[in-house]
Amino acid sequence: MQAIYLDHAATTPIHPDVLKVVVETMEEHFGNPSSVHSYGRKARQILDKARMTAAKSIGASDKDIIFTSGGTEADNLALIGVAEANKNKGNHIITTKIEHHATLHAAEKLEKEGYHVTYLDVQENGTIDIEQLKASLTDDTILVSVMMVNNETGVIQPIEAIGQLLEQHQAYFHTDAVQAYGLLPINVKELKVDLLTVSSHKINGPKGVGFLYVHPDVKMTAQQYGGEQERKRRPGTENVAGIAGFAKAIEIAAEKQQERMQQYKHYRTLFLEQLEKSAIDFSINGTESERVANIVNISFPGANVEQLLTNFDLSGIAASSGSACTAGSVEPSHVLTAMFSENNPCTTNSIRFSFGLANNEENVVTAAEKVGQIVQRLTK
Ligand SMILES: Cc1ncc(COP(=O)(O)O)c(C=O)c1O
Repeated sequence: MQAIYLDHAATTPIHPDVLKVVVETMEEHFGNPSSVHSYGRKARQILDKARMTAAKSIGASDKDIIFTSGGTEADNLALIGVAEANKNKGNHIITTKIEHHATLHAAEKLEKEGYHVTYLDVQENGTIDIEQLKASLTDDTILVSVMMVNNETGVIQPIEAIGQLLEQHQAYFHTDAVQAYGLLPINVKELKVDLLTVSSHKINGPKGVGFLYVHPDVKMTAQQYGGEQERKRRPGTENVAGIAGFAKAIEIAAEKQQERMQQYKHYRTLFLEQLEKSAIDFSINGTESERVANIVNISFPGANVEQLLTNFDLSGIAASSGSACTAGSVEPSHVLTAMFSENNPCTTNSIRFSFGLANNEENVVTAAEKVGQIVQRLTK
Protein backbone atom coordinates (compact mmCIF):
# COMPACT_ATOMS: atom_id res chain seq x y z
CA MET A 1 0.00 0.00 0.00
CA GLN A 2 1.40 3.35 -1.05
CA ALA A 3 0.76 5.73 1.86
CA ILE A 4 -0.85 9.08 1.10
CA TYR A 5 1.41 11.88 2.20
CA LEU A 6 -0.40 14.77 3.88
CA ASP A 7 2.52 16.13 5.87
CA HIS A 8 4.16 18.68 3.54
CA ALA A 9 4.56 21.17 6.39
CA ALA A 10 6.96 18.68 8.01
CA THR A 11 8.92 18.18 4.84
CA THR A 12 8.32 17.87 1.11
CA PRO A 13 9.39 15.36 -1.53
CA ILE A 14 12.28 16.61 -3.62
CA HIS A 15 11.24 17.93 -7.05
CA PRO A 16 12.70 15.72 -9.82
CA ASP A 17 14.35 18.72 -11.53
CA VAL A 18 15.94 19.69 -8.21
CA LEU A 19 17.28 16.19 -7.71
CA LYS A 20 18.90 16.34 -11.15
CA VAL A 21 20.67 19.58 -10.26
CA VAL A 22 21.89 18.19 -6.92
CA VAL A 23 23.29 15.01 -8.46
CA GLU A 24 24.83 16.82 -11.42
CA THR A 25 26.51 19.34 -9.11
CA MET A 26 27.85 16.60 -6.85
CA GLU A 27 29.16 14.60 -9.78
CA GLU A 28 30.59 17.33 -11.92
CA HIS A 29 31.29 20.34 -9.75
CA PHE A 30 32.79 19.03 -6.56
CA GLY A 31 35.32 21.83 -6.16
CA ASN A 32 35.66 23.89 -3.00
CA PRO A 33 34.33 27.40 -3.72
CA SER A 34 37.27 28.85 -1.76
CA SER A 35 39.85 27.24 -4.08
CA VAL A 36 41.40 29.50 -6.69
CA HIS A 37 41.73 26.86 -9.43
CA SER A 38 39.14 26.10 -12.08
CA TYR A 39 37.27 23.52 -9.97
CA GLY A 40 36.89 26.04 -7.19
CA ARG A 41 35.93 28.83 -9.55
CA LYS A 42 33.13 26.72 -11.07
CA ALA A 43 31.76 25.90 -7.59
CA ARG A 44 31.98 29.61 -6.69
CA GLN A 45 30.01 30.49 -9.82
CA ILE A 46 27.26 28.06 -8.84
CA LEU A 47 27.16 29.54 -5.36
CA ASP A 48 27.06 33.13 -6.63
CA LYS A 49 24.22 32.33 -9.00
CA ALA A 50 22.24 30.58 -6.25
CA ARG A 51 22.76 33.56 -3.95
CA MET A 52 21.36 35.89 -6.62
CA THR A 53 18.34 33.61 -7.07
CA ALA A 54 17.69 33.53 -3.31
CA ALA A 55 18.11 37.31 -2.99
CA LYS A 56 15.85 38.09 -5.95
CA SER A 57 13.08 35.92 -4.53
CA ILE A 58 12.67 38.26 -1.52
CA GLY A 59 13.68 41.58 -3.10
CA ALA A 60 17.09 41.63 -1.39
CA SER A 61 20.69 42.05 -2.45
CA ASP A 62 22.86 38.95 -2.86
CA LYS A 63 25.29 40.27 -0.23
CA ASP A 64 22.54 39.99 2.37
CA ILE A 65 21.97 36.25 2.00
CA ILE A 66 23.72 33.82 4.35
CA PHE A 67 23.36 30.18 3.41
CA THR A 68 22.85 27.96 6.44
CA SER A 69 22.12 24.30 7.21
CA GLY A 70 18.40 25.09 7.30
CA GLY A 71 15.69 26.95 9.16
CA THR A 72 16.85 25.99 12.64
CA GLU A 73 20.34 27.33 12.15
CA ALA A 74 19.01 30.51 10.53
CA ASP A 75 16.63 31.15 13.47
CA ASN A 76 19.40 30.44 15.99
CA LEU A 77 21.80 32.75 14.19
CA ALA A 78 19.21 35.52 14.00
CA LEU A 79 18.27 35.43 17.67
CA ILE A 80 21.56 34.61 19.33
CA GLY A 81 23.72 36.50 16.81
CA VAL A 82 21.67 39.70 17.13
CA ALA A 83 21.32 39.44 20.92
CA GLU A 84 25.07 39.03 21.40
CA ALA A 85 26.04 41.81 19.04
CA ASN A 86 23.57 44.35 20.45
CA LYS A 87 23.99 43.83 24.19
CA ASN A 88 25.17 47.41 24.54
CA LYS A 89 21.78 48.67 23.29
CA GLY A 90 19.61 46.60 25.62
CA ASN A 91 18.76 43.10 26.75
CA HIS A 92 15.09 42.76 25.86
CA ILE A 93 13.76 40.46 23.15
CA ILE A 94 10.15 39.99 22.08
CA THR A 95 8.85 36.85 20.41
CA THR A 96 5.60 34.87 20.51
CA LYS A 97 4.31 31.78 22.30
CA ILE A 98 3.64 30.03 18.99
CA GLU A 99 7.08 30.16 17.35
CA HIS A 100 8.84 27.05 16.12
CA HIS A 101 11.13 25.53 18.75
CA ALA A 102 14.12 26.72 16.71
CA THR A 103 13.17 30.22 17.86
CA LEU A 104 11.66 29.38 21.26
CA HIS A 105 14.59 27.30 22.45
CA ALA A 106 17.08 29.92 21.24
CA ALA A 107 15.10 32.53 23.21
CA GLU A 108 15.16 30.29 26.29
CA LYS A 109 18.93 29.93 26.00
CA LEU A 110 19.20 33.72 25.90
CA GLU A 111 16.97 34.03 28.96
CA LYS A 112 19.35 31.73 30.85
CA GLU A 113 22.14 34.10 29.88
CA GLY A 114 20.36 37.07 31.42
CA TYR A 115 18.34 38.46 28.52
CA HIS A 116 14.76 39.37 29.26
CA VAL A 117 12.30 37.75 26.83
CA THR A 118 8.62 38.61 26.36
CA TYR A 119 6.52 35.86 24.77
CA LEU A 120 3.48 37.46 23.15
CA ASP A 121 0.11 35.74 23.48
CA VAL A 122 -2.01 34.91 20.48
CA GLN A 123 -5.73 35.39 20.20
CA GLU A 124 -8.09 32.48 19.58
CA ASN A 125 -7.75 33.10 15.84
CA GLY A 126 -4.00 32.41 16.13
CA THR A 127 -2.67 35.92 15.48
CA ILE A 128 -0.80 38.22 17.82
CA ASP A 129 -2.34 41.46 19.03
CA ILE A 130 -0.35 44.41 17.68
CA GLU A 131 -1.40 46.46 20.72
CA GLN A 132 0.26 43.93 23.04
CA LEU A 133 3.41 44.13 20.97
CA LYS A 134 3.31 47.93 21.10
CA ALA A 135 2.86 47.85 24.87
CA SER A 136 5.73 45.38 25.30
CA LEU A 137 8.33 47.48 23.46
CA THR A 138 10.81 49.26 25.72
CA ASP A 139 13.97 51.30 25.20
CA ASP A 140 15.84 48.07 25.91
CA THR A 141 14.18 46.01 23.17
CA ILE A 142 16.80 44.96 20.63
CA LEU A 143 14.95 42.29 18.65
CA VAL A 144 11.40 41.29 17.77
CA SER A 145 10.94 37.84 16.23
CA VAL A 146 7.49 36.90 14.90
CA MET A 147 6.95 34.06 12.44
CA MET A 148 5.20 34.80 9.13
CA VAL A 149 3.11 31.63 8.99
CA ASN A 150 2.60 29.17 11.82
CA ASN A 151 3.71 25.63 10.99
CA GLU A 152 0.86 23.93 12.89
CA THR A 153 -2.13 26.03 11.87
CA GLY A 154 -1.04 27.89 8.73
CA VAL A 155 -2.19 31.16 10.33
CA ILE A 156 -0.56 34.26 8.79
CA GLN A 157 0.77 36.93 11.18
CA PRO A 158 0.48 40.69 10.46
CA ILE A 159 4.10 41.05 9.38
CA GLU A 160 3.66 44.28 7.42
CA ALA A 161 2.00 46.00 10.40
CA ILE A 162 4.80 44.84 12.72
CA GLY A 163 7.41 46.12 10.25
CA GLN A 164 5.71 49.51 10.21
CA LEU A 165 5.44 49.62 13.98
CA LEU A 166 9.15 48.88 14.40
CA GLU A 167 10.34 51.29 11.75
CA GLN A 168 10.96 54.05 14.31
CA HIS A 169 12.28 51.70 17.00
CA GLN A 170 15.86 50.50 17.49
CA ALA A 171 14.71 46.84 17.62
CA TYR A 172 15.53 44.70 14.63
CA PHE A 173 12.69 42.68 13.16
CA HIS A 174 13.22 38.99 12.41
CA THR A 175 10.61 36.77 10.82
CA ASP A 176 10.73 33.01 10.39
CA ALA A 177 9.26 32.65 6.90
CA VAL A 178 9.87 28.90 6.58
CA GLN A 179 6.19 28.05 6.12
CA ALA A 180 5.36 31.16 4.08
CA TYR A 181 8.13 31.08 1.53
CA GLY A 182 7.07 29.85 -1.90
CA LEU A 183 3.40 30.35 -1.05
CA LEU A 184 3.13 34.04 -0.18
CA PRO A 185 4.84 36.89 -2.04
CA ILE A 186 7.68 38.22 0.13
CA ASN A 187 9.58 41.47 -0.28
CA VAL A 188 11.82 42.35 2.66
CA LYS A 189 11.83 46.05 1.82
CA GLU A 190 8.07 46.33 1.61
CA LEU A 191 7.65 44.31 4.79
CA LYS A 192 10.42 46.28 6.53
CA VAL A 193 11.97 43.07 7.80
CA ASP A 194 15.61 43.07 8.95
CA LEU A 195 16.17 39.33 9.16
CA LEU A 196 14.25 36.51 7.48
CA THR A 197 14.57 32.71 7.71
CA VAL A 198 13.95 30.26 4.84
CA SER A 199 14.38 26.48 4.63
CA SER A 200 14.88 24.48 1.44
CA HIS A 201 13.19 21.20 2.35
CA LYS A 202 9.79 22.84 2.74
CA ILE A 203 9.77 23.87 -0.92
CA ASN A 204 10.75 20.58 -2.55
CA GLY A 205 14.44 21.28 -2.16
CA PRO A 206 17.06 19.14 -0.39
CA LYS A 207 17.26 18.93 3.39
CA GLY A 208 20.04 20.53 5.39
CA VAL A 209 20.08 23.87 3.58
CA GLY A 210 18.39 27.22 4.05
CA PHE A 211 19.22 30.89 4.26
CA LEU A 212 19.04 33.85 6.58
CA TYR A 213 18.48 37.26 5.01
CA VAL A 214 20.20 39.96 7.03
CA HIS A 215 19.81 43.68 6.27
CA PRO A 216 23.26 45.27 5.80
CA ASP A 217 22.77 47.57 8.82
CA VAL A 218 22.13 44.72 11.25
CA LYS A 219 24.87 43.96 13.75
CA MET A 220 25.13 40.23 14.27
CA THR A 221 27.85 37.94 15.60
CA ALA A 222 28.68 34.62 13.90
CA GLN A 223 27.89 31.49 15.87
CA GLN A 224 30.64 29.39 14.30
CA TYR A 225 34.36 29.98 14.13
CA GLY A 226 36.45 28.98 11.16
CA GLY A 227 36.99 30.29 7.67
CA GLU A 228 35.78 33.39 5.91
CA GLN A 229 32.81 31.88 4.09
CA GLU A 230 29.51 33.78 3.92
CA ARG A 231 31.40 37.00 4.68
CA LYS A 232 32.59 35.52 7.98
CA ARG A 233 29.02 35.33 9.23
CA ARG A 234 28.74 31.56 8.78
CA PRO A 235 32.10 29.86 8.33
CA GLY A 236 32.42 26.35 6.89
CA THR A 237 32.78 24.93 3.39
CA GLU A 238 29.50 25.58 1.63
CA ASN A 239 27.03 22.80 0.77
CA VAL A 240 27.37 23.58 -2.94
CA ALA A 241 25.17 20.79 -4.31
CA GLY A 242 22.49 21.42 -1.69
CA ILE A 243 22.56 25.14 -2.37
CA ALA A 244 22.38 24.57 -6.14
CA GLY A 245 19.34 22.32 -5.61
CA PHE A 246 17.80 24.87 -3.26
CA ALA A 247 18.19 27.56 -5.95
CA LYS A 248 16.44 25.32 -8.47
CA ALA A 249 13.62 24.73 -5.97
CA ILE A 250 13.34 28.51 -5.47
CA GLU A 251 13.03 29.05 -9.22
CA ILE A 252 10.32 26.41 -9.53
CA ALA A 253 8.45 27.74 -6.47
CA ALA A 254 8.53 31.29 -7.84
CA GLU A 255 7.34 30.27 -11.32
CA LYS A 256 4.33 28.35 -10.02
CA GLN A 257 3.45 30.24 -6.84
CA GLN A 258 -0.05 31.34 -7.83
CA GLU A 259 -0.87 28.07 -9.50
CA ARG A 260 0.17 26.06 -6.44
CA MET A 261 -1.79 28.25 -4.04
CA GLN A 262 -4.91 27.66 -6.15
CA GLN A 263 -4.24 23.95 -6.36
CA TYR A 264 -3.77 23.57 -2.59
CA LYS A 265 -6.89 25.60 -1.93
CA HIS A 266 -8.74 23.17 -4.19
CA TYR A 267 -7.27 20.16 -2.34
CA ARG A 268 -8.23 21.65 1.00
CA THR A 269 -11.81 22.22 -0.21
CA LEU A 270 -12.05 18.68 -1.58
CA PHE A 271 -10.65 17.26 1.66
CA LEU A 272 -13.07 19.20 3.86
CA GLU A 273 -16.07 18.46 1.62
CA GLN A 274 -15.34 14.77 1.86
CA LEU A 275 -14.97 14.98 5.65
CA GLU A 276 -18.36 16.73 5.86
CA LYS A 277 -19.88 13.80 3.99
CA SER A 278 -18.66 11.34 6.60
CA ALA A 279 -20.86 12.97 9.23
CA ILE A 280 -18.22 13.28 11.91
CA ASP A 281 -17.76 16.09 14.37
CA PHE A 282 -14.78 18.32 13.56
CA SER A 283 -13.71 21.95 13.59
CA ILE A 284 -10.87 23.85 11.97
CA ASN A 285 -8.40 25.65 14.23
CA GLY A 286 -7.67 29.24 13.23
CA THR A 287 -10.65 29.65 10.90
CA GLU A 288 -11.17 33.28 11.81
CA SER A 289 -7.85 34.43 10.39
CA GLU A 290 -5.98 34.46 7.12
CA ARG A 291 -4.24 31.15 6.51
CA VAL A 292 -2.04 29.59 3.85
CA ALA A 293 -3.92 27.12 1.67
CA ASN A 294 -1.68 24.10 2.13
CA ILE A 295 -2.18 23.60 5.89
CA VAL A 296 -5.38 22.72 7.69
CA ASN A 297 -5.42 21.93 11.41
CA ILE A 298 -8.50 19.98 12.46
CA SER A 299 -9.83 19.20 15.91
CA PHE A 300 -11.74 15.92 16.30
CA PRO A 301 -13.73 16.08 19.57
CA GLY A 302 -13.73 12.80 21.47
CA ALA A 303 -10.50 11.53 19.90
CA ASN A 304 -6.86 11.94 20.88
CA VAL A 305 -3.80 12.60 18.80
CA GLU A 306 -1.93 9.39 19.58
CA GLN A 307 -4.90 7.19 18.69
CA LEU A 308 -5.62 9.18 15.54
CA LEU A 309 -2.08 9.24 14.21
CA THR A 310 -1.53 5.53 14.86
CA ASN A 311 -4.76 4.59 13.11
CA PHE A 312 -4.09 6.97 10.21
CA ASP A 313 -0.67 5.44 9.77
CA LEU A 314 -2.06 1.90 9.78
CA SER A 315 -4.47 2.97 7.02
CA GLY A 316 -1.72 4.60 4.99
CA ILE A 317 -2.31 8.25 5.85
CA ALA A 318 0.75 10.29 6.81
CA ALA A 319 -0.24 13.36 8.84
CA SER A 320 1.04 14.90 12.05
CA SER A 321 0.31 17.11 15.01
CA GLY A 322 2.06 19.64 17.17
CA SER A 323 1.37 17.53 20.21
CA ALA A 324 4.22 15.29 21.23
CA CYS A 325 3.39 11.68 22.05
CA THR A 326 5.76 10.31 24.65
CA ALA A 327 5.42 6.95 26.35
CA GLY A 328 1.65 6.72 26.26
CA SER A 329 0.87 10.31 27.15
CA VAL A 330 0.19 13.25 24.88
CA GLU A 331 1.94 16.56 25.47
CA PRO A 332 -0.43 19.28 24.29
CA SER A 333 0.56 21.43 21.33
CA HIS A 334 2.15 24.70 22.54
CA VAL A 335 0.58 26.52 19.61
CA LEU A 336 -2.98 25.37 20.29
CA THR A 337 -2.45 25.90 24.03
CA ALA A 338 -1.57 29.52 23.29
CA MET A 339 -4.71 29.85 21.14
CA PHE A 340 -7.24 28.04 23.32
CA SER A 341 -5.71 27.90 26.83
CA GLU A 342 -4.27 24.93 28.73
CA ASN A 343 -6.69 22.01 29.25
CA ASN A 344 -8.76 22.74 26.12
CA PRO A 345 -9.35 19.37 24.37
CA CYS A 346 -8.32 20.91 21.02
CA THR A 347 -4.71 20.89 22.23
CA THR A 348 -4.65 17.08 22.28
CA ASN A 349 -7.20 16.09 19.63
CA SER A 350 -6.01 18.12 16.64
CA ILE A 351 -4.25 16.91 13.52
CA ARG A 352 -2.39 18.91 10.90
CA PHE A 353 -2.95 17.90 7.29
CA SER A 354 -0.72 19.64 4.77
CA PHE A 355 -0.90 19.40 1.00
CA GLY A 356 1.77 19.56 -1.68
CA LEU A 357 3.61 17.86 -4.51
CA ALA A 358 2.69 14.33 -3.40
CA ASN A 359 -1.03 15.02 -3.76
CA ASN A 360 -3.66 14.88 -6.47
CA GLU A 361 -7.44 15.14 -6.37
CA GLU A 362 -7.84 11.40 -6.09
CA ASN A 363 -5.51 10.76 -3.18
CA VAL A 364 -6.81 13.78 -1.27
CA VAL A 365 -10.39 12.48 -1.50
CA THR A 366 -9.31 8.91 -0.63
CA ALA A 367 -7.41 10.21 2.39
CA ALA A 368 -10.43 12.18 3.59
CA GLU A 369 -12.66 9.12 3.22
CA LYS A 370 -10.26 7.07 5.34
CA VAL A 371 -9.90 9.85 7.92
CA GLY A 372 -13.70 10.07 8.16
CA GLN A 373 -14.05 6.32 8.68
CA ILE A 374 -11.32 6.21 11.33
CA VAL A 375 -12.66 9.17 13.28
CA GLN A 376 -16.16 7.71 13.14
CA ARG A 377 -14.88 4.42 14.53
CA LEU A 378 -12.78 6.03 17.28
CA THR A 379 -15.42 8.44 18.50
CA LYS A 380 -18.42 6.10 18.37
C1 LIG B 1 8.30 27.57 11.07
C2 LIG B 1 9.53 26.72 11.04
N1 LIG B 1 10.71 27.25 11.40
C3 LIG B 1 11.83 26.54 11.39
C4 LIG B 1 11.85 25.23 11.01
C5 LIG B 1 13.14 24.47 11.02
O1 LIG B 1 13.65 24.32 9.72
P1 LIG B 1 14.72 23.17 9.40
O2 LIG B 1 13.98 21.87 9.43
O3 LIG B 1 15.21 23.51 8.02
O4 LIG B 1 15.79 23.25 10.42
C6 LIG B 1 10.64 24.62 10.62
C7 LIG B 1 10.61 23.19 10.26
O5 LIG B 1 9.70 22.47 10.61
C8 LIG B 1 9.45 25.39 10.63
O6 LIG B 1 8.28 24.86 10.29
